[in-house]
Amino acid sequence: MNAPIGIFDSGVGGLTVAKEIMRQLPGESLVYFGDTARVPYGTKSKATVCKYSRQIARFLQTRKVKAIVIACNTASALAREELEEMVDVPIVDVVRPGAKMAAETTRNKKIGVLGTRSTIKSGIYERYLHQIDAEITVVSKACPLFVPLVEEGLFEDRITEDVVGRYLHDMKEYEIDSLVLGCTHYPLLRGVIGRETGDGVRLVNPAYETAKSLKEMLKEKELLAPAGGEVTHDFFVSDGADEFISFANSVLPRRVENTSLVDIEAY
Ligand code: DGL
Repeated sequence: MNAPIGIFDSGVGGLTVAKEIMRQLPGESLVYFGDTARVPYGTKSKATVCKYSRQIARFLQTRKVKAIVIACNTASALAREELEEMVDVPIVDVVRPGAKMAAETTRNKKIGVLGTRSTIKSGIYERYLHQIDAEITVVSKACPLFVPLVEEGLFEDRITEDVVGRYLHDMKEYEIDSLVLGCTHYPLLRGVIGRETGDGVRLVNPAYETAKSLKEMLKEKELLAPAGGEVTHDFFVSDGADEFISFANSVLPRRVENTSLVDIEAY
């Protein structure tokens, strides 16, 4: 089907998922929305995140999307069910694929999960991981300072090293062998996080598995774009379009020329 896939996040984090979708599904058109005016979501209540997510879904539907990817763990944890009731297109979130990938990765059944406060508080990773295997031990940690560090582009910086060291310190005693980057902003800090955890811990980025689930779902529902059609990538934000463009160009493989502002409160 020749219609775009809608992707959204609170800001730039979802670009890590968009990048993987572009890689695995190069023939698909995308409409990305980053809620840069209202980031972060991870410190906000379920009611607020649901309201924001509903507005974004309404906006994406005006762009005639054939599916929606919630490229935000916080919105996946708090708003997926609400969105499912509201929209008539299939939805893919990032948490289920991330949990599946972590369960497949671990050897010693000790998994760490890093996420925003709201994602960790929701307990969603524990729930999914225990549904897959009740013997898995899950050690979770909220890392509220990571999102502003990423939004500021401080991927490799002494401040980031200090913050990562502080958050991961308590996790060391649990001898985890896999660590889920349970917020779509965090893969951009994987260099610093990986150095802190060392070679014995595998970092799990749910983006790969999310793109894979999306592909399977599109295939199953016969929604894949026909070969040889025009491919467009459109970007929308609720604030700071210029900053977003330069950020997107540092993350994505293809050049982003334009980003449009959307008055998301009007939806
Ligand atoms: N990138 C989002 C996530 O995956 C949200 C981060 C935030 O806005 O706090 O949770």
